[in-house]
Amino acid sequence: MKSRLFLAVFAVFAVAAGSAWAADVAKGKEIFNGPAGCGDCHRTTSKKSGGPGLAGTGKIHTDEWLARWLKEPKKTWQENDAETAEMKKRLKQQDAERPGMKVRKNLTDDELADLIEYLHTL
Ligand code: HEC
Repeated sequence: MKSRLFLAVFAVFAVAAGSAWAADVAKGKEIFNGPAGCGDCHRTTSKKSGGPGLAGTGKIHTDEWLARWLKEPKKTWQENDAETAEMKKRLKQQDAERPGMKVRKNLTDDELADLIEYLHTL
């Protein structure tokens, strides 16, 4: 009986760990430079080019915020939670009605996870 419970618990951990490992930095980089168009507006250094340079952005922002922002920048901008308000202030965009950021392709959850994993390497 006990060993069966152990197996069940082990299986849950194995699945959780597997999905955490599944995010793929190389794929994230391809998405960044490919159809999502991130690379058209962002450099991966701290230099601005249209959009702000993204060096260190994975430390500035939480994954939850990034996932929302990369899916729905306009909605995130308008909802203006504390993290969004802080970004607007840092970028001196407090008075802008809408974001300059546009997402050129709707990303799947897997693509988002890969992209966010890649942003953590910048
Ligand atoms: C049309 C240009 C454009 C495209 C395409 C674009 N962005 Fe942006 N991005 C911006 C601008 C401009 C900002 C600054 C906030 C604003 O005004 O929207 C920004 C902000 C950000 C931020 C927050 C930066 C900070 O300093 O807090 C992240 C992270 C980000 N973009 C990632 C991405 C990723 C990843 C993609 C690809 C899916 C992408 N962006 C596509 C223009 C763009």
